[in-house]
Amino acid sequence: MNVLVVGGGGREHALVWKISQTKSVKKIFCAPGNAGISEIAETIPIRADDLSSLLKFALENKIDLTVVGPELPLALGIVDLFESNGLKIFGPSKLSAEIESSKVFAKNFMRKYNIPTANYNTFTSDEINEAKKFVFSLTPPIVIKADGLAGGKGVTICESYDDAVKTIELYFSQKIFGSAGEKIVIEEFLKGEEASIFAITDGDDFITLPPAQDYKRVFDDDKGKNTGGMGSYAPTPLIDQSMLERIKNEIIKPTIEGLKSENRKYKGCLYCGLMITDEGPKVLEFNCRFGDPETQVVLPLIETDILEMFLSAIEGGIKNLKYSIKDLTAVCVILASAGYPDKYETGKEIKGLDELKKLSDIIVFHAGTKKVNNKILTDGGRVLGITAIGKEFETTIKNVYGAVELVKFEGMHYRKDIGKKALNYLKNKTI
Ligand code: AMP
Ligand code: GLY
Repeated sequence: MNVLVVGGGGREHALVWKISQTKSVKKIFCAPGNAGISEIAETIPIRADDLSSLLKFALENKIDLTVVGPELPLALGIVDLFESNGLKIFGPSKLSAEIESSKVFAKNFMRKYNIPTANYNTFTSDEINEAKKFVFSLTPPIVIKADGLAGGKGVTICESYDDAVKTIELYFSQKIFGSAGEKIVIEEFLKGEEASIFAITDGDDFITLPPAQDYKRVFDDDKGKNTGGMGSYAPTPLIDQSMLERIKNEIIKPTIEGLKSENRKYKGCLYCGLMITDEGPKVLEFNCRFGDPETQVVLPLIETDILEMFLSAIEGGIKNLKYSIKDLTAVCVILASAGYPDKYETGKEIKGLDELKKLSDIIVFHAGTKKVNNKILTDGGRVLGITAIGKEFETTIKNVYGAVELVKFEGMHYRKDIGKKALNYLKNKTI
C-alpha cells in the first residue's frame, strides 16, 4: 500500500514509524513532515491545510490510504473531499469533526446524550450581559472556552468573578480569538486527575488504546504556562479496569451512538480528554484526532498491525479486528527550545542523535526539526520527543532520562518529572 500521512510533528512521526512496521506498506509519504520523518518516509512540501494540493498529490501518486494527524484539515473537510474522489482516508468527516471544532456543539451534544461533563452554559457575542450574569451562578475558579479551534489556547481558567468578567470582554469585545471566539462556553471547574483515552471506531463499534496522561505545563510539578505538551506516559495506572469500563459505558459508547443517530457517524480516532473526579469520569474535551504527545507513548504499546486497524475503522468491522497490546510501559520526554512556550529561537544544531540510534528501546520522534547541509537543526518550540519502552515504569523513566542526557542543543529545556505520577499512583494508589 502507498500511504500518505498528513502533518509534520511528533505525533505524525510516531504514526509514520508505526505504519513503517506493517506488512502491507509499500511506500510512505508525509506532508509536510520533518527531518526525522524524512529518514523513513518521503516528505512532500505541502501544508496540512492545503486540501486541494493534498488531493492532487494523492490522486497522482496512487495513494491507497491517507492518515490525518492534525485537527485543522479534518475540520476543513479533508475526509469528505478525499472520499468524494474515491480515496480511502482515516479520520472523521467535517460534520463529525465538530465534536472538536465547536465546543458549543460538543457541550450541547453531551447534555443531550447524558454524557458526564462540567455544568455549563453557552453564549454568543450578542449575549455578553447574560454571560457576565451567568458567571455569578458558579463558584470560582470558572472556566471560559472559545467555541472554535484556537490552537489549544482557547481555554481560560478564571480565579475570580472579576477575572471571569474581564475574560468575557477579551473574548467578545476585543475578539482575541477572532471568529473562534464569537461563541463561548462558560463552565464549572472540575477537580481531579486528567487522562487521555483514544477510541478507534468505525462508527458502530470501537476499541480503546492504552490510556495516557500528558504533561501540559512547562515546569516540573505542573507549574508555569500551558504548552502543547512537555511529555506523556502510558498506560496510566489512574485508569484501572473498572474505571475503563465506566469510561466505555458512560462516555465512549453513548458518544459514538449519539453521533450516529445525529447523522454524524464518526470514523477515526476519538480523543477523550477526561477528568477523573470523585463522582467519576467527566469529559473535558473531545478531539477528532490522535493527541500529541500521547501518540508517542500509545502507538509503541500496540501489537496489532496499525494499517489493519485503520482500514477496519474505515471499512467497518472493528469488532472483528484482532487487537492486542504489549504488556509494557512507555514514557516520552519533550525537549523544547529556550523560551518555549513564549517566543523562542530556531536554527540551533542538535547533537547526539547518532548516539541514540545505538540504544534499544529508545525511539526519537522529531517534532520541530529540519535538515540543512546534513545537520539537524531546531525548527520549532517543541523540538524532539524521546520515548523509552520498558517493562516497569521505574526503569523506563530511568532509561528515558539517560537518553535525554545524550542530546544537546543550545537552550534545550525539558521537564524532569515525566512519569512520576505513575510511580506515585502505584505506590499510594492515589496521585
Ligand atoms: P480543553 O482544551 O477543553 O481540554 O482545556 C484545556 C485544559 O484546561 C484541560 O486539559 C484542563 O487542564 C483545563 N480544563 C478545561 N476545562 C476544565 C474544567 N471544566 N475544569 C478544570 N480544568 C479544565
Ligand atoms: N495532548 C493534547 C492534545 O493533543 O490535544
